[in-house]
Amino acid sequence: MALRQIRIMGDAILEKVCRPVKEMTPRTKTLIDDMLETMYDANGVGLAAPQVGILKRIVVIDIGEGPVILINPVILETSGEQTGQEGCLSLPGQAGIVTRPNYVKVRAQNTDMEEIEVEGTELLARAICHECDHLEGNMYVNLVEGDLFDVTAEGEEDD
Ligand code: NI
Repeated sequence: MALRQIRIMGDAILEKVCRPVKEMTPRTKTLIDDMLETMYDANGVGLAAPQVGILKRIVVIDIGEGPVILINPVILETSGEQTGQEGCLSLPGQAGIVTRPNYVKVRAQNTDMEEIEVEGTELLARAICHECDHLEGNMYVNLVEGDLFDVTAEGEEDD
């Protein structure tokens, strides 16, 4: 495994739509391992492949309950709403207030390319929405209510 460089907002790759993953290859497995390592190293709770420069529909999330790996995720259902602070590893040191669904059900494939469904509420729902947006080239800053604000890098969790 290896750390990958996290792309910072302004990098054109963060605005592109990602391509579906058709099959699991050793190269893609390595990418996923590297994404997890990179996310943990940066103290993030989520990371999408375009954030490490790869335009594939892969996200990794860990809100402290173990890794969730979603390949080709599709949000099937949402309900409720939550308004809270959100950040992104591609915009270090900053955060903003974003309203998201409080419940999300997503269909995806796992690393064996088997179909899975994952449900999440609260932070997990927020992270799923945030990371799926990255696959469409969308950054959370477009959804921020009010202004972005500075957060200390230490002790803050970024999506
Ligand atoms: Ni992000």
